[in-house]
Formats: sequence, C-alpha cells, structure tokens
Amino acid sequence: MKMNKLNIAFAALAISALGSSCVSRGNDPGWEYAPDMYYSKGYEPYNQADSFQLNPHGMSMRNPVAGTVAHGKLDFVYNLPNTGEGYERSATEVTAPANVDGIDTRGKYLYEIYCSPCHGIDGKNDGAVFQKVSTLKPAWKSYQDEYIQNLEEGKIYHTLTYGKNNMGSHASVLTPMDRWRVIKYVKQLSGVSTNSVALVESGVQETSNEDKSN
Ligand code: HEC
Repeated sequence: MKMNKLNIAFAALAISALGSSCVSRGNDPGWEYAPDMYYSKGYEPYNQADSFQLNPHGMSMRNPVAGTVAHGKLDFVYNLPNTGEGYERSATEVTAPANVDGIDTRGKYLYEIYCSPCHGIDGKNDGAVFQKVSTLKPAWKSYQDEYIQNLEEGKIYHTLTYGKNNMGSHASVLTPMDRWRVIKYVKQLSGVSTNSVALVESGVQETSNEDKSN
C-alpha cells in the first residue's frame, strides 16, 4: 500500500515535469550543465581570446616565423620585388614550368573570366571595361601587337602577380599554375604560341589534384 502511494507520487512528479518542459518552456533546451558544448567559442586566429594572455595582443595564434612557407605552397613563393627592377629581372629569372597543361581549356576559361572584361575575348582590348573607359587602355592595341608577341612570359607572370598601373594583381584569383595556363593562352591569342605541351581539346578542365593541394 505504501509502495503504491510512492509510485503514484513519482508518476505525478514525472508527468508534471514532462508537462512543464514540453508545454510551458517552448524551445528552451533545458538545463545546460556544459554550456561550452552548446555554444562553442570560435577562436579567431589573429585577434581577441582573453585566454591567450601570453601571446602578443591576446592573439590566439602567433604569426608564423618570417619566410615560413605553408606545406604544398612552395610555388606561391615569389622573390622578385614589386619594382621596376624586379619587373626587368622577371624577363629572364621567371620561366614557365615544363608541365603547363590545359591551356586551351582551363587557361581559356580563366582568361575569359578574369581578363576578357578588359582585354576582350580575342585580346583586342575591346572588352566592356575598355570600351566604357577607353583612357584605361594600354599603349599597345591588342595581343596581336609585336609588344605582346615579344613580351617575355616572366614579365607577364610578374604583371599578373603584382599588377601594373591600371591592371590590378591577379594573385588572389589565379594559382601560380593557373597564371601560367593563362599566360600560355595569351601567347596563343597573340599568334606566337610557346606552348611546349600538346593542347587538351575537351571541355573546361577542372582544377587538377596537384592544384588543389596548393
Ligand atoms: C581592369 C582591366 C584589366 C584586366 C581585368 C586585366 N588587365 Fe591586363 N592590362 C590592363 C592594362 C590597363 C594594362 C597596361 C598596363 C601598363 O603597361 O600600364 C594591362 C597590361 C597587360 C599585359 C602587358 C603586361 C606588360 O608587362 O606590359 C598583359 C600581358 C596583360 N595585361 C594580360 C592580362 C591578363 C592575362 C589578364 C587576366 C588574368 C588581365 N591582363 C586582366 C588592364 C587589365
């Protein structure tokens, strides 16, 4: 008899607890005994974080040692300075890797996205931007000019990396290998192709695995 009364009391308690958590508390997740698990702290590498008082400025992460190169990003290292002298040196010191592929596919695809708005689909400097603001145009008329035909690939790489006057840097949108693919495509448009590799004909080429590790 006593047991039964106790059971009923427990049942009533359970029902009222259920009722209160389901009905009256709505979406309230209830009692959080480990709130950090529900609301994880998103540490930002280069700012705040009260808990990292030993690092300068309370940063979560320290700046890498000068000259550090991330794994697989060795080809991103470009040692020539963004100066007239660096530009001149790029003519002979910067050369295309031997295995530039996808010139007709990925090179063309990237050229049409990033370059054609100014230089035009065929490199005739008749893209929408140059048409609208003709004062932006370079002195040479088109890629078919001797200037571009004779321009060293290293100098184009330098220009794509740093930009030149009215042309901005494309380093943030083109990996080093993609820069070479576009450069080879530019040379192809100019009529003087220096492509060392047979052209790939089919469709737009996806970034290869080798690029993804970059
Ligand atoms: C905003 C317009 C604009 C875009 C986009 C642009 N360019 Fe240019 N580009 C210019 C201008 C302006 C110059 C002339 C720079 C100078 O010599 O003053 C130039 C110069 C060049 C040259 C000659 C560089 C040299 O060393 O004299 C090449 C080659 C070239 N661009 C290729 C490209 C390629 C490839 C892309 C795409 C990745 C591209 N450009 C995107 C405006 C643009």
